[in-house]
Amino acid sequence: MLRTKFLLTTAMTSAAVLLAPVAVTAAPTPGAPGIGDPYYPTYGNGGYDVKSYDIGVRYQPDSKKLTGTTTLVATATQDLSSFDLDFGLTASKVTVDGRPAQTRTDGFELIVTPSRPLHRHAPFVVTVEYSGTPSKVTIPGTTSTPWVTTPTGAVGLGEPEASAWWFPANDHPLDKATYRVAITAPSDLSALSNGNLVSKQTTGADTTWTWVEKLPQATYLAFMAIGRYDVLSGRSASGLPYTTAVAQGTSPEYTAAKKNLAQTGEVVDWLSKQWGRYPFDAIGGVVPDGEIGYALEDQTRPVYDTAFWRGGRDNISVVVHENAHQWFGDSVSVHHWRDMWLNEGFASFSEWLWSEQHAGKTGQQEFDALYAKPANDSFWSMVIGEPGAHHEFDGPVYDRGAMVAQALRNRVGDATFFRIIRSWVVKHRYGNARIEDFVALASKVAKQDLRHFFQVWLFTGEKPAPTVENGFPPDYKPAAPKAAQQRSLPRR
Ligand code: ARG
Ligand code: ZN
Repeated sequence: MLRTKFLLTTAMTSAAVLLAPVAVTAAPTPGAPGIGDPYYPTYGNGGYDVKSYDIGVRYQPDSKKLTGTTTLVATATQDLSSFDLDFGLTASKVTVDGRPAQTRTDGFELIVTPSRPLHRHAPFVVTVEYSGTPSKVTIPGTTSTPWVTTPTGAVGLGEPEASAWWFPANDHPLDKATYRVAITAPSDLSALSNGNLVSKQTTGADTTWTWVEKLPQATYLAFMAIGRYDVLSGRSASGLPYTTAVAQGTSPEYTAAKKNLAQTGEVVDWLSKQWGRYPFDAIGGVVPDGEIGYALEDQTRPVYDTAFWRGGRDNISVVVHENAHQWFGDSVSVHHWRDMWLNEGFASFSEWLWSEQHAGKTGQQEFDALYAKPANDSFWSMVIGEPGAHHEFDGPVYDRGAMVAQALRNRVGDATFFRIIRSWVVKHRYGNARIEDFVALASKVAKQDLRHFFQVWLFTGEKPAPTVENGFPPDYKPAAPKAAQQRSLPRR
């Protein structure tokens, strides 16, 4: 469309002179098919910003079919002729502001052309009706399976991609939004998602569970789970509403998981003492009866593989890790996926701190054990501040990531260390941040230039020298080199 703009010029006398309106053609253009993440160029989209998702899905475990309607409210950030949604199921009807829109698909992009262009800054409403079999959807080029069918239902969850298997979205942490998720399933099953349960309604043989997350949430932190669960709800000692759901199973894993999930309130209260107030208004956890392969810090309600409790062993560490992510990952989210150290480093360090304060190994002992790995161990060769696409969950991002926190703690002292982290989670609460923002804030709070320290730890693929500058205690005596230990549990 044609737009007129007033051109303002400043005369030499500095008096402003208003000229006649000049016509400039600013034709609306298609929104970019990606939000600009260097690791995953097609993830997320350009040209708009989502404010809220209203998701309604119906799932039949027998047929494994899902039908849904998602309405999203967004604001255009440019004049748009068309825009993309990240989506892997089949859209049957799409409207924009109530008017039917044209669509086509290109891989994981649903390209929507509204009947009239959208204006920059203007809000718009998109409704997508769809159906599909999420378990049959795979992203070419990744091994990620964000939809897991279980003996009694299914779970939709994943990182760095997740949403396309059950709702159309701007699937990147840079575009956070609020969520209302209504899940309809056979009434003998439970249905879970993030936030608080606002209604549960039975019609015929089906029940609809409606969950609301009213605080900003990244798409990868939205999950849904359906199945036969033992669901417990109540309030923690500090008054947070909790919902935990452990799949009904008789093996020792389920008993141990229930015991540790029941400690979620205690863990969150302890974390709040370390890092500052809990950023959300619900807590909990979900342990499905299927093979997830990892645990994920889904907002307010992490999802855990039963394997963390293999043989019925106690595992509070994983509960600490996933709930620490509520601060590091969920409230303060990565700007781009390369910033993953900000998530996994501090979630892993939180496990060390829990151990230290609960009569286990100290942070320094955990650090020392890892530092004993020989310099030629592949553990040291990754650049953890730039792990590369598909390597953001590699072991060193977690373990060397936690070492960076312990080294920073040694370098600046406990008081300053905790001040840095607490101001970090306040400064970027509900937002996104880069590693460089952390380096700048740490230097500012510590009143010293820490750029070289972080350069050595995060951007060098080598074992750091045991110097005081690198955050080692004075006269540090490294333990005798030890071969790498094999992990017996899945990666958090
Ligand atoms: N962020 C999760 C955690 O550390 C791990 C996710 C692993 N993702 C994956 N696709 N394997 O708690
Ligand atoms: Zn993690």
